[in-house]
Amino acid sequence: MRDALGAVQSVLVLGGSSEIGLAITRRLVQDRCRTVVLGVREPDAGATRAAVDDLRRAGATSVEAVRFDACDTATHQAVLDDVFERFGDIDLVVVAFGVLGEQTDFDTHPAHAVEAVQANYVGAVSAGLVTADRFRQQGHGTLLVLSSVAAERPRRSNYVYGSSKAGLDAFAQGLGDALVGTGGRVVVVRPGFVHSRMTEGMAAQPFATTPDAVAEAVVAGLQKGREIIWAPGILRWVFAVMRHLPRPLWRIVSAR
Ligand SMILES: NC(=O)c1ccc[n+]([C@@H]2O[C@H](COP(=O)([O-])OP(=O)(O)OC[C@H]3O[C@@H](n4cnc5c(N)ncnc54)[C@H](OP(=O)(O)O)[C@@H]3O)[C@@H](O)[C@H]2O)c1
Repeated sequence: MRDALGAVQSVLVLGGSSEIGLAITRRLVQDRCRTVVLGVREPDAGATRAAVDDLRRAGATSVEAVRFDACDTATHQAVLDDVFERFGDIDLVVVAFGVLGEQTDFDTHPAHAVEAVQANYVGAVSAGLVTADRFRQQGHGTLLVLSSVAAERPRRSNYVYGSSKAGLDAFAQGLGDALVGTGGRVVVVRPGFVHSRMTEGMAAQPFATTPDAVAEAVVAGLQKGREIIWAPGILRWVFAVMRHLPRPLWRIVSAR
C-alpha cells in the first residue's frame, strides 16, 4: 500500500534489467520504496545480481529477482501470482521490457519481427491483464507502461517496433479506462529517444534524454496523478503537430 504521503512502497519491474526501468526503481527507492522485485529473463546473471545489490545499498529492504520472460505468456499467471502472494500488496508494476530490433533485419527475417512483436505487444497484453486482475483483488495498484513516441506515429525506419508500441499504447489506455472504479489504474509513459543500451550506437533524435530524466518525469507524473507522461514533456506538443503532418511530409521528416 502507498504510504500516507502517496509514495510507492513496493514495485515489480517486468523487464527488470531495463536501464529506464532500473532508473525509475532507483528513484522510487530514494522516495522510500522498500520492496523491489525484478522480473528478468536471467535472475542469476551478474548484471542482475549487481542491480539487486545496488538497490539494497540505496535503501530497499527487500529486493529479489524472479524469472520472467515476456514471450513465455503461459507462465505469466504463475509468476505474478507468486510475487503478489509472497510480497503482499504491490503498489506499482512497471512494464519495462521491450525490443527495438532493426527494421532491415525484420525485412529479411520476418520471424525476428514476430519475436519483437510477441515481446512488445503480446507479452504486455498477457502480463497487463494478469496484473489488472491482481489490482482488482487488492483494491489498488498502478500499472506503468513504457510505451514510446513511436506509438504516436510509426516511422518507416522502424515501423514494426512503432506498430507494436501503438498496439501496446492503445491496450494500456483501454485497460486504464476499464479499471476506473476498481482502485487499479494505468499510466502510459511516452519517452522520445533515450540514451540506453537499446539505442547504443544510434544517432540521437531531437530532444534525446536519459533514463534518469525519464525517471524524474515518471515520479513527478505519478505524484500529479497523470495518466500519460511524456519524456521530455515538450514531445507532447511536438507530436501533436507530427501526427497530423501529411504523409509525404512525415516520410521526409521521419526518414532519419
Ligand atoms: N531507449 C529508448 O530510446 C526508448 C524510447 C522509448 C521507449 N522505450 C521503451 O522503454 C522500455 C525500456 O527500454 P530501455 O531503454 O531501458 O532499454 P533496455 O535497457 O534495452 O531494456 C529493454 C529490456 O527489455 C528486456 N526484454 C527484452 N525482451 C524480453 C523478454 N522476452 N522478456 C523479458 N524481458 C525482455 C531486456 O532484458 P534482457 O536484459 O534479458 O535483454 C531489457 O531489460 C522498452 O519498452 C522500450 O521500448 C525506450
